[in-house]
Amino acid sequence: MSHAADPQPMISRSGGPLSGVAQVPGDKSISHRALILGALSVGETRITGLLEGQDVLDTARAMAAFGAQVERVGPGEWSVHGVGVGGFSEPAAILDCGNSGTGVRLIMGAMATTPITATFTGDASLSRRPMARVTDPLSEFGAQITAREGGCLPITIQGAADPLPLRYRTPVASAQIKSAILLAGLNAPGETVVIESEPTRDHSERMLAGFGAEIRSESTEEGHVITLKGRPELRAQPVAVPRDPSSAAFPVAAALIVPGSEIRVPGVSRNPTRDGLYITLLEMGADIRFENEREEGGEPVADMHVKHGPLTGVSVPAERAASMIDEFPILSVIAAFAAGKTVMNGVAELRVKESDRIDAMALGLRANGVRVEETRDSMTVHGMAAVPGGGLAVTHLDHRIAMSFLVLGLGTGSPVAIDDGSPIMTSFPDFIPLMQGLGADIAETSA
Ligand code: S3P
Repeated sequence: MSHAADPQPMISRSGGPLSGVAQVPGDKSISHRALILGALSVGETRITGLLEGQDVLDTARAMAAFGAQVERVGPGEWSVHGVGVGGFSEPAAILDCGNSGTGVRLIMGAMATTPITATFTGDASLSRRPMARVTDPLSEFGAQITAREGGCLPITIQGAADPLPLRYRTPVASAQIKSAILLAGLNAPGETVVIESEPTRDHSERMLAGFGAEIRSESTEEGHVITLKGRPELRAQPVAVPRDPSSAAFPVAAALIVPGSEIRVPGVSRNPTRDGLYITLLEMGADIRFENEREEGGEPVADMHVKHGPLTGVSVPAERAASMIDEFPILSVIAAFAAGKTVMNGVAELRVKESDRIDAMALGLRANGVRVEETRDSMTVHGMAAVPGGGLAVTHLDHRIAMSFLVLGLGTGSPVAIDDGSPIMTSFPDFIPLMQGLGADIAETSA
């Protein structure tokens, strides 16, 4: 569904310490993949802990449009009866992927090697984002693709009737490109190979292996190489979705910047390809402990225990960017409260997310009295002993920008306002009540 809600202005202000338990929602990346692989397998896939944010609900609707039987059986619990690899039928209507880059790119991959036609659209944010990075390799499988000027949505794909397997080096470190190619490779004969210069999140590889595909990953001189054998019979599996480390980052950040805070965040994924923020925070001196480390549903998880304390700015190396790509907005907020400067390197991809996140963060932080420098692919935030606040941040239909500035306001001298909190629904529907439950002063305001 397109993000059509009226803008919802919000404000946050500092108050007492935060405390309690933050039950953050299921992982967004894993939730999309569970629905898509469920739809491509034979039998019933039961999913628990699914993120019921708008992005994932849009993917669930798309899977039903391709012929899978998708049903909500309880809170976070979903059943998918799949149609098997190559079994997608042609959707009757245009598929609206709303705000979700992951949804649209992975689904385009999943249908591009089946001889059906589908048209994809999305909201204003998604319609500005680059799609050629995915449609270029998909056309090499033999799919016929028509896009709007600049390769943007709406896009129509006529899937390949006789797909060829592909060997492809991704031009940017992107799990979405990698995953779109692997999903397309499922219905191509022979081996499809993706080569990436830096490893990106590996949920697709883990889940494909769990569903019975033959897939291997190796580090070679060429880079990180993933090889998938085409035309497997995927077998339906139960999927327990761990809690999202990217969503956990918001209450964790709030606890780190509000004096006296102490919170727990149970059951968070500690997948090493998603761990960059937490490595960085430990380097900054954050008091974060990971307890009860265990494996759930093929992913490592742990309970987090977080306490407020002094932080010091660091330089984040470019090689780490892929493992924390969604966490730079909230890191830039935390950095405003750290002693010295924090430099984020190799972050050009932030410019093509739901918004240009470097610009959005730099402008909003400056409006709240923080010194920020940016280049095309880096951002530097100068920490201060007392962050003034008092400004308005523009969120550009970007959930992570909205949540980042609401967290900022919990630690500033004066309140911080955002123009629109409605995009938070895409990834963290309970963000406001969850934060209020920890003691945060966040409220909706009238337009
Ligand atoms: C995602 C990959 C990342 C990330 C996005 C989710 C995924 O995007 O920013 O939120 O689930 O594969 P890129 O592949 O564009 O880096």
